[in-house]
Amino acid sequence: MAHREACDRFSADAARDVFDVNVFGFLYFVEELLPDFMSCKAGVIIGVSSLSDCRGFPRSGFYNASKTAMTFLLESLRIELRKYGIRIVTVKPGFVKTPMTAANRYRMPFVMTAEKAAQIIVRGMKKDKRLIQFPQRTVLGTKLLKAMPDALYERIAARKIKE
Ligand SMILES: NC(=O)c1ccc[n+]([C@@H]2O[C@H](COP(=O)([O-])OP(=O)(O)OC[C@H]3O[C@@H](n4cnc5c(N)ncnc54)[C@H](OP(=O)(O)O)[C@@H]3O)[C@@H](O)[C@H]2O)c1
Repeated sequence: MAHREACDRFSADAARDVFDVNVFGFLYFVEELLPDFMSCKAGVIIGVSSLSDCRGFPRSGFYNASKTAMTFLLESLRIELRKYGIRIVTVKPGFVKTPMTAANRYRMPFVMTAEKAAQIIVRGMKKDKRLIQFPQRTVLGTKLLKAMPDALYERIAARKIKE
């Protein structure tokens, strides 16, 4: 679930809705699964984060923060649950054409179809990957954004919201 917020209509309740769907939905699901998975010493749990976890993007802070939470939750679960034979897979898509992104009014670099995204995820699962992130050009872009000095990133991002 995404939400485009602006400071002039800031709503903590809207943030709660985003976290309820994107983070707590996943956590309640894991809570249900874990006892059985742990007693069987097997199982695979796939969580969907996003390549947008790389930086705080203006007007999408609730979504960004929920996805960053997912990335770290999945990583910590992966480490803890390894000894129980439970595999945790993190999926980090770039832009995919879905009802969620249909509302976006900005250019979405390297956007792909949902079918193509599904193929990549299935291929990654078959290869037992722990992290499935795509498309590669967006992965590279997010690495550059992460490596950028904070002050430079903030200047560029502030200029983008003026445009
Ligand atoms: N599309 C992208 O570019 C992109 C990029 C990175 C990560 N992701 C992530 O991929 C996942 C799937 O997103 P998508 O693009 O496929 O979005 P989508 O087509 O809009 O699907 C969103 C899903 O979330 C469910 N949902 C939304 N609000 C809900 C609510 N209040 N309670 C319960 N379920 C709710 C919807 O259920 P209904 O069908 O019943 O409404 C739907 O199944 C999300 O975690 C998203 O953050 C997407």
